[in-house]
Amino acid sequence: MDFTSIEAPRRVERLVTGQPATDGAGVKLTRVLTHELQRRLDPFLMLDNFASDDPNDYIAGFPDHPHRGFETVTYMIAGRMRHRDSAGNEGLLTSGGVQWMTAGRGLIHSELPEQQAGMMEGFQLWLNLPGRDKMCTPGYRAIQSTEIPEFTTPEGVTVRVIAGHSHGVNGAVARPAQQWPTAPLYLDLHFPAGGATFRQPLAAHYNAFTYTYRGCIGIADAVVARHRMAVLDNRGDGVLLQGLPGDEPARALLIAGIPLNEPIAQYGPFVMNTREQLIQAVEDFQAGRLGKD
Ligand code: CO
Repeated sequence: MDFTSIEAPRRVERLVTGQPATDGAGVKLTRVLTHELQRRLDPFLMLDNFASDDPNDYIAGFPDHPHRGFETVTYMIAGRMRHRDSAGNEGLLTSGGVQWMTAGRGLIHSELPEQQAGMMEGFQLWLNLPGRDKMCTPGYRAIQSTEIPEFTTPEGVTVRVIAGHSHGVNGAVARPAQQWPTAPLYLDLHFPAGGATFRQPLAAHYNAFTYTYRGCIGIADAVVARHRMAVLDNRGDGVLLQGLPGDEPARALLIAGIPLNEPIAQYGPFVMNTREQLIQAVEDFQAGRLGKD
């Protein structure tokens, strides 16, 4: 397969500026993928970007809270976060590492910074589970930075493959297609300062978006500046990202997945298919049943 040939690259359908938000016990963050984009970017439900060197913005962290019905993927760019959950998992997420948590039928966890000063930067993505898997056994994987497959293209773009596959390299998280109908692709792309092009073949039925977190990148005739999300249209045979020459090397996430096309019912940290299932989730949580089986 020739990875360098993309005949009809996708275009930017919409540029999105994240919204300032506060979550957990007062963590300041930017909500990039908001509720109104859940249908358009199915199977993704949320993307938060936290980035601050002021401990007041992050030190309180995310104390005990529940989840049911989807997966949370936390990618740390800088800093340290301690995870504990009701299934007995505990881990320290450090710079460059990923925590992939499958909430399934439910767990209660905390995510607390383990640093008193310095930069805390990263992302949390919510990936929906198909209805048949929403009540599955909770799962947890801590992936250290060194375990994330990484390669550099001949043009000098360094690619970290968190999920899916790119240029023949399999991601840190991979499951058989029958078990994972959304087949997510999650890449972190580092472009050299002089600019370079990255090509990723991608079937048109995948919903896809990018998020620039350093410098700026070009997609077709659009410039995607720092802290902007670009929703990509569902056409063509792939994605072509251009790291633009600038003062600092550009960095961007490229995230894509196959939509579930199921009803989405959300109440805070519970994402199910129906209102009845949400009521059940709240009742289970209030009765102390969540995370106990
Ligand atoms: Co959480």
